[in-house]
This record gives sequence, structure tokens and C-alpha cells, in this order.
Amino acid sequence: MSIPAGDVEVPALVRRLAGDAELVPVWRNGIGGLTFRAGDHYVKWGPLNTETTMADEAERLAWAAPHTPVPAVVEHGADASHEWLVTRALAGRSAVDPRWIADPATAVRAVGRGLRALHDALPVAECPFDWDVAARIAHAQRRGRQVPTELREPPPIDRLVVCHGDACVPNTLLDDGGAWVGHVDLGALGVADRWADLAVAAMSTEWNYGPGWADELVAAYGVDPDPVRQAYYRDLWNAT
Ligand SMILES: Nc1ncnc2c1ncn2[C@@H]1O[C@H](COP(=O)(O)OP(=O)(O)OP(=O)(O)O)[C@@H](O)[C@H]1O
Ligand SMILES: [Mg+2]
Repeated sequence: MSIPAGDVEVPALVRRLAGDAELVPVWRNGIGGLTFRAGDHYVKWGPLNTETTMADEAERLAWAAPHTPVPAVVEHGADASHEWLVTRALAGRSAVDPRWIADPATAVRAVGRGLRALHDALPVAECPFDWDVAARIAHAQRRGRQVPTELREPPPIDRLVVCHGDACVPNTLLDDGGAWVGHVDLGALGVADRWADLAVAAMSTEWNYGPGWADELVAAYGVDPDPVRQAYYRDLWNAT
């Protein structure tokens, strides 16, 4: 999962969806999916995937949009092998843009604050989606993953919030001044303990910025580290 280096072949469908707009590849994910900027829109395209679908993502984006800055959905669809999602551009760049890789202190602070703001903004009682531990484990097992039995019993809930569902650093967008401006990639959004997101966000700082930033992220969110819940939700993420 990274910003594509070098030439990217533009799928014919993406070319068609973009109309006359110039296409700039911005992201390649772990299953070969691509995201392009197309003028003031983004086109996300990829192989059908059983984990979350872009239809799920479109539904969650539409639900979250009145409460917090997320991309507006223009259209989405699927054929026999691929799916796509067209959204309006949010005015920000990913927290893993080269500019922010060069300034992790600013980026980590913004991602932590952004995650807290997302959790504070989304109304748990009105949320029709959940991101429940038992369902995540069952889903992973249906996909043939061996999930260690000790992960079946989560720690007691600290605080139920509407979680992002993939709170890895690249999914927060920052403005040029280093403030968070919004979130993308909400295909798994749902109600869960806030540590389900926070543990992943903290862990992903190590992948994207190197060691030493996880506690900074938790501090920017506004809580003290919770080694037990962080270890649990990190292991759950890696196992599912
Ligand atoms: N509407 C948008 N406005 C601004 N940037 C966007 C928008 N949609 C996508 N992006 C950019 O494209 C990148 C990839 O989008 P997204 O995270 O949804 O794709 P993905 O393939 O699901 O990613 P992952 O590898 O995390 O699964 C984002 O990190 C962000 O930088
Ligand atoms: Mg993403």
C-alpha cells in the first residue's frame, strides 16, 4: 500500500469514469486496487474483495457526511471482477504525503486529533453499522484465517464510539498548515471500542514514520496509553 512510483496503467473503466479530467495515480492498495485523482474528483477502482465492498463504503460515507468531513459520493458500482467509487475531492493530502513523512511530529499530532474529533462527532446511538469483535473474527475465519483463541475474549469496553474501521495513518487528510481536514476509506466504519481504532492508528505510525511515534499519537488523541487494549486490538487487526 503506497503512493505509486512510475507509470501506472489506467484501467479503461477509470478512464471512462473520469471523462475529460486528467488522471493522476495517487494510491495502490494491498490487493492491486488503484485510486486516481481526476480533477476535483477521486476514482477508486479495484478487484472485488470480500472484506469490505465499495457499496459498503458508499453507504457509510453517506451516513457519516452530515457529522464529519468525509468525501461526498458521486457514484459507485461493480462488474463481474471489479468495483469502483467516485467521490468529490476533499482539500487535503494524505498524512503519508512526502511532505508529512518529512514532518512526522506534525502529522502524528494531526492524525491523533483527527481521530478524536471523528469519534466525538459520530453519533453512536444513531449508527446502523457495527464493527464488533465476534463478527470480525467470524469473517476472518470464513476467509480461511486462523485466529488465535485468546483473541476471542476482548478486554472490557473502554468507550463505545463509531470507529473509522481502518484508522491507519494514510486515511487522514491534512491541510498544508498541518491540521487534519477529513477522513477517507470508511468501508468498515462501525460501532466498537475506541481502542479498536486507536491501537491501529498508533501501530501504523511505526509503519509510516518509524519507531517512537505511537505514544505521541495516543497523547494527541487525548488519553493515556493502554498497553492491554492496544496489544489486544493490534493483534486482532493483524490476525483478521
Ligand atoms: N475524496 C478524496 N479526497 C481526497 N483524497 C482522497 C479521496 N479519496 C481518496 N483519496 C486519496 O487516495 C488515497 C487512497 O484512497 P483509499 O484510502 O480510500 O483507498 P484504499 O485502496 O482503500 O486504501 P488502503 O490501502 O488503505 O485500503 C487516500 O489515502 C487519499 O490520499
Ligand atoms: Mg486507505
